[in-house]
Amino acid sequence: MLKPVDLEKVKDLASRYVSAHNTQPAKWFIKGKEFLLTDDESRKLPFADPNSHDHLVSIGAALETMKIALSGFGFGLKVLSQSLRPCVEIRCELVEVSETDPLFPFLENRRSVRNKFRKANFSEKSALKSQFLNKANIKLVEDKKTITEVANDFNRANYHFLGQKDYLAELNEWLRFDRSDSSFTEDGLNPEAMYLSQVEAFGAKYVLKPSIFSILKKMGLAKTMIDEKSKVLSATAIAFLVVKEETDEISRGSFFMRTWLEFTQIGFSLNPLSCLTDFTFYNEKWSKRLHLNSDEYLLNAFRVGPTPEKLASNFRLPKEKVFLEKEI
Ligand SMILES: Cc1cc2nc3c(=O)[nH]c(=O)nc-3n(C[C@H](O)[C@H](O)[C@H](O)COP(=O)(O)O)c2cc1C
Repeated sequence: MLKPVDLEKVKDLASRYVSAHNTQPAKWFIKGKEFLLTDDESRKLPFADPNSHDHLVSIGAALETMKIALSGFGFGLKVLSQSLRPCVEIRCELVEVSETDPLFPFLENRRSVRNKFRKANFSEKSALKSQFLNKANIKLVEDKKTITEVANDFNRANYHFLGQKDYLAELNEWLRFDRSDSSFTEDGLNPEAMYLSQVEAFGAKYVLKPSIFSILKKMGLAKTMIDEKSKVLSATAIAFLVVKEETDEISRGSFFMRTWLEFTQIGFSLNPLSCLTDFTFYNEKWSKRLHLNSDEYLLNAFRVGPTPEKLASNFRLPKEKVFLEKEI
């Protein structure tokens, strides 16, 4: 049986799954060998994610991260039943495993890196290519011309979404600019997580207010103020994630999480460019450009660059809000 002291370490590591806007929708009920994964519906993003796709992908990432974390202590999870709609209920059983997941050591240091990347050196680029160049479900693009096109399309898509009042208002609910906010270090995105300096954070706090953004838009200033081209251009590569249309969100979340850790393993960090793939026009455009088959779906795109020396902290909900005691 998993020792209580190890279970606490597992919970710390399992909290490190990725989630859109850092909403952390997973809730776990653990009793002996029984692990029940559910979701907190109040953490959905109705405007950014109307079909709850990313919400469920985040749940899939939570399940995969729990499995990887447990493997470091000789355990795993066997899924007994899974229901996603109308509500999430994934029943699992703790099982013994003989091998630690090779991605276990990278749970702790994986982060979203949102500032500019430094240039990768020759050996870093070689490692990236040898690991990811010929994968069916990851399309790696390295040439500057295509990265520039991605940067331009990303900027247009980002401007399109931020220009929608409801979308921006919802994003604001997850932005944490105020240190006295009780959620400042618990969830959402604070300036450190966004890699913003104090001055940039001060600017972003106001620029991203829906009322101010619409004025800046009318004045023709908004596009320049949210321009992320130089960040995208600093990437060593863009990695497009491809899944089969038929795969459910839980498998997609598992793939999303594992892929991110695989880049971490070879010294690279990622930043998703979800706006690009969430915008149907650009999703279809890049699906064609990457020669996806008709049964394939472009799940996301990441800018990829060498992991910087200084990483942001991990901002997560306290364990007692995620791992709950209840009869299951
Ligand atoms: C489905 C999904 C979409 C995401 N999209 C974005 C994105 O567009 N931009 C971004 O900066 N981060 C994005 N993220 C990353 C999360 O914001 C990030 O995982 C979360 O803030 C926790 O931070 P960490 O990755 O540093 O642990 C996405 C994550 C998921 C699961």
